[in-house]
Amino acid sequence: MKTYSIETMGCQMNERDSETIAGLLEQMGYTASADFKDADVIVVNTCSVRENADNRFFGMLGHIKHIKLARPDVIVAVCGCMMQQEHITEKIREKHAWVDLVFGTHNIDALPEMIEELKQTNELLQVVLPERISLAEGLPARREFSFKAYVNIMYGCNNFCSYCVVPYTRGREISRDAENILAEVRDLAESGTKEITLLGQNVNSYSGGETDFAGLIEMVNDVPGIERIRFMTSHPKDLSSKLIDKFKPTEEGGAAGLCPAIHLPVQSGSTRVLERMNRHYTKEEYIALVERLREARPDIVISTDFIVGFSGETDEDFADTMDVIERVRFDSAFTFLYSPRKGTPAAEYEDLTSDEVKHERFDHMVQRLNAITLEKNSAYVGSVQDILVEGASKTGESMLMGRTFGGKLVNFQAPDGADLIGSIIPVRIKSVKTFSFTGEIVRW
Ligand code: SAH
Ligand code: SF4
Ligand code: F3S
Repeated sequence: MKTYSIETMGCQMNERDSETIAGLLEQMGYTASADFKDADVIVVNTCSVRENADNRFFGMLGHIKHIKLARPDVIVAVCGCMMQQEHITEKIREKHAWVDLVFGTHNIDALPEMIEELKQTNELLQVVLPERISLAEGLPARREFSFKAYVNIMYGCNNFCSYCVVPYTRGREISRDAENILAEVRDLAESGTKEITLLGQNVNSYSGGETDFAGLIEMVNDVPGIERIRFMTSHPKDLSSKLIDKFKPTEEGGAAGLCPAIHLPVQSGSTRVLERMNRHYTKEEYIALVERLREARPDIVISTDFIVGFSGETDEDFADTMDVIERVRFDSAFTFLYSPRKGTPAAEYEDLTSDEVKHERFDHMVQRLNAITLEKNSAYVGSVQDILVEGASKTGESMLMGRTFGGKLVNFQAPDGADLIGSIIPVRIKSVKTFSFTGEIVRW
């Protein structure tokens, strides 16, 4: 039996793509390998959003080269966002020509043919398309979980934030037909999936003919068996009133299954920086959106992304970011040091801020963000939360972990002799930390 192994870097889009890659390989007769060192096909699905992602890939390639030297028959395929960039594929041709296959984000569906072609030749095969030719519906997928699933609703991005490589690696924005999305959701629901995460770089601009994103949420909400709907990611400039209304109570037009959670990347609190980032909203507009979301749903969990040390960010700009942090009080946030990406407009911007100052800003911010997260988490102590149980917890033997409706991670003691994975059960929150809660099962 031939085996495969896939290493996935980057975001949920890549995780979802890897499920398709696994599905295609299994259709060809390969089975999952327990260890990538033994696999007959090794696939690395790459990310290029920051420089350290690129570096990690080249580091990993070094390890894989040893495997290839020891077992020349192994097929090494590299794909994903890095491969959509000419300077990367060129480097692979020049320095890592021992790799067997390079493909991109737009032609995953052609993997079986590419592998067949490889068997005829011993040379590096590079097949990278500049754009998606078709939406390739109905591809097989090996889903990572049975009770929760990612569903793509659109591909690509048209926003061209000045720092971001994604529009170049994922191509132009294109939405799937609502009918195809719903067929996939119904299939998943029938096989036991309770939670759906709708995926797109900017789900708020989804447009499936007659259906906009708020309409799509309603349709998914109506699918029997689907109890939780999440989505990633929302661009603040396109967050519509209609979508905000979906967070309201059902009698006011809300969707009962929509999780009270939104990831709304702000990037910076300075209107001047936001303009240089090409984000199309101001500091005040962002704060107003958060207020409207909280009006619609007071317990909504709001998370965000920040880029610190963007070229030309002054002390004053940074003070604006800190001001947004104090005013919004995010439930959680990812903070990234700005990483210039080749080919993006911002890579040409002049930057006079020292690395030392950038790191100081980063540390200061993360400290405040974490303190606020902990304060917000404390409000949950004593409450009973419905937890979708996801699996074993890393915190100890016989501990389980799962997530609240709002997406907070909870660890708790597993009861004897019950298989709770995939169930939604009430758990009382006993104590909280910055990144997790500890609770006790109320009943099951
Ligand atoms: N489509 C999503 C974001 C995808 S990238 C959105 O627009 O919200 C995920 C996060 O990576 C971004 O929100 C941003 O904070 C960060 N990021 C993107 N490019 C970056 C860069 N060049 N340097 C540092 N962080 C970056
Ligand atoms: Fe990148 Fe902006 Fe598109 Fe998000 S919206 S993927 S940050 S260009
Ligand atoms: Fe990375 Fe591509 Fe996602 S660059 S963040 S894997 S869209």
